[in-house]
Formats: sequence, structure tokens, C-alpha cells
Amino acid sequence: MLFCGISFAKKKYAMKTPYYYYDLDLLEQTLQKLLAVAGNSHIHYAVKANTDKRICRMISNYGLGADCVSGNEIIHALRCGFHPSKIVFAGVGKTDEEIEIGLKHNIACFNVESAQELEVLNQLAVKMGRKANVAIRVNPNIHADTHQYITTGKYENKFGISYEYLLEVIEFIEDSAQLNLTGLHFHIGSQILNMDNFKNLASGINLILSELYNEGVEIEHINVGGGLGINYDNPIDEPIPDFQSYFEVFNSNLNKSLFKHLHFELGRSIVGQCGELHTKVLYVKQGIAKQFAIVDAGMTDLIRPALYQAQHRIIKKHNTEDKIYRYDIVGPICESSDVFRRDYPMEKLTRGDELIIKSAGAYGEVMVSAYNLRDKPKVCYREARSSLLFDIDKKHVMN
Ligand code: LLP
Repeated sequence: MLFCGISFAKKKYAMKTPYYYYDLDLLEQTLQKLLAVAGNSHIHYAVKANTDKRICRMISNYGLGADCVSGNEIIHALRCGFHPSKIVFAGVGKTDEEIEIGLKHNIACFNVESAQELEVLNQLAVKMGRKANVAIRVNPNIHADTHQYITTGKYENKFGISYEYLLEVIEFIEDSAQLNLTGLHFHIGSQILNMDNFKNLASGINLILSELYNEGVEIEHINVGGGLGINYDNPIDEPIPDFQSYFEVFNSNLNKSLFKHLHFELGRSIVGQCGELHTKVLYVKQGIAKQFAIVDAGMTDLIRPALYQAQHRIIKKHNTEDKIYRYDIVGPICESSDVFRRDYPMEKLTRGDELIIKSAGAYGEVMVSAYNLRDKPKVCYREARSSLLFDIDKKHVMN
């Protein structure tokens, strides 16, 4: 069933563009595929990718945990049904108030990113009479083949604690009555399609774990973060990412004798393909060098092309023509970077044509801004075919 547009006494009004459209059926199929190959791994959904309540609720119903990066995300995750014992909290700049939210709700783990953060966590835990599980986020200095703005595992990135300081930090945790070291956390970047990057991460983790083992430090869980990319070029042929190969890389390359539980924090690969941004052509303008199709969605609605030069597939919703023209598909915002595609081959476009910008389910709606005092895009859904959300294997669930 399609819930798009509003019905007034049998008359159907089309949704006003721009709007986000979420295919909950595809999301459900994606979750089923994911869980079918996840084995005993613990999967946390990276809430930052999409905070839509229906999406988050469906994901929590499937038993996943949540990876949060702010106090508000923790509260949101709890409201959407994620159990506190499955919530992990990452981020380089957690405020005292945010740490207190995590402590108050007894979340599963704080992924700590600096020695000073650890001291503050300890002080706050003492003040509140709480205990906290800690995973140290390690910066493994591993390259990821992705856009420079979404690589996180190199020394020049602000994330994590370098290996060189690891023992010092572990000693601090061991001396604290409030803190309990349970794991190591890693995340080398996002939209990674080259599995060798994850293989390198696994080798780096093995090295760190065996050195810690030699120092007498035992680690219960490893969290390898997220980062699995999706097919932006061909979302129609590959609506669900290859989770199997991804898990296989870790399962066959990590030395499992050195830890007990394996955790993942996936965002984009879960929700990326289930979302689209629908927009209308306002004007077609012939320039000297090129032809522009000016649409009513802009970088305020989907910033990925402007910020990361991301190339989303764009299709015409109703097409009757075969002949291909080339357009720069641009938004209405007063910025030259407000371009969705340059020189993009498309059937003839005219005013009023509806276009669908594919693969916008992750880091789309969550990054909407009000620049130019723009309205927020509306949202509509395609319902999941089955509302039987609970017939799933719970093996993956974090204890
Ligand atoms: N864990 C940590 C610690 C992260 O920083 C992230 C994403 C994830 C997990 C989830 O990564 P994923 O599975 O979604 O790749 N706005 C950018 C992406 C920023 C990613 C931030 N961190 C974009 O639109 O490409």
C-alpha cells in the first residue's frame, strides 16, 4: 500500500514536492537479508543515518541495537524502542549533559575517544553513583577508499585514540571503580566498497589485540564500526548491499580467539536505498554552454552532492520519450554548488516533470537545513508488505 498524498473525500491530491519517500518494504527486506547473514554478530543501527521514527521503530523491532552520537539520539533511540542495553554512544565531543543521559539510562557502552573524555566520564559516573562500560575507540591509521570528508581512521582525522596511548588509557580504566573496559571500537570511514579496506582493518585489529594480550589485557568485544557502501550508480539492480561478503571479510580475517563478541554499526547500508527524494522541474533554461533543469529540491534538502560530490542516480517518474538530452540538474539555492548532476543524460524534461533522486535514505533527510528559510521536505511511505515484524532469529541480539 502506498501512503503518498492526502485523500479528501475520494479525491487524491499529489504530495507537494520536494518530499522524501521511504519504501518500508525494501527496508524490511534489507533487514531480513542482513540478519540472515549476520550470524552471531551484534548489529547496531547508526541512528545518525536516518532518524525517521517509522524507520527507527522498524529497525528496533528487528532486534538491532543503536549507535548514537548525541544525547538527543540516545533519547530518540529509546523512544523508538531500542533497548538501553543495546545502545552504544560514540562521538569525539560528548558534553557532560550527554554523558549524564547515557549514564542515567544505563546504556550498553561508551565508545570513548580521548583520555580527557575518559576522566570526565569517570568523574560523572562517581557523581551519579553509576558504572559505565567503556570501549576505547582506537585510531588504527588505516586508509579508506572514500571521500576525504568521510574517512575517519587516519592519524590526521580527529577520531579515536592512537595505539601509542592505549596502555595508558587502559590503566586509567583499570584503576577506576566506576569504569569497566569491555571493548575496542574502530570505524575507518563511510561509503566503502573496497573490501580490502576492511581486510586491512581486520589485520590492524589482530595486531593490536595480540599486543594487548601479551600485556595481559583481555578484550571482550570488538566493534568494527560501519562503513559498508551502497551502489549509488545502479540502485535499481542492487537495492540491497552485499552484506554477506562484508561479514565474510571480518569473519575470515579477524583472529577470533582474541575476543568474544563482534559488533557492527551500520547506517547507510541499512537505510540508504530505501529512501528517495522527489522533486519537480520548475524551469528548463538553455544556457550558452549547457542546458539547465532547475528543480524545486536543493542542497538544503539533500546536501550530499554539494558536500561530497556524491552522484545520485536521477530518474523521471513518468516517461514517454526515448531521446536523450543532457542537463545540469540544479536546485534553487543561491549557491553555485547547488547542483545534483552535471551534464546528466535524461529524457526530455519540461516544467512540471517529477524527478526521483535515488539512494537518499541515508544522510539525506537528517542533513536538511533551513538555509534560504526553506521549508522542510515532507515525508511519505510505501508500507511494508508484512507487518509481521517479529518472526526473526534473535541470535544477533546483544546481551
Ligand atoms: N560508526 C561511526 C562511529 C560513525 O561515525 C559512522 C558514520 C557510522 C558508524 C555509520 O557509518 P555507515 O555505515 O553509515 O557508513 N554524511 C556522510 C556520511 C557520514 C558518516 C558519519 N559516520 C555522507 O552523506 O556520506
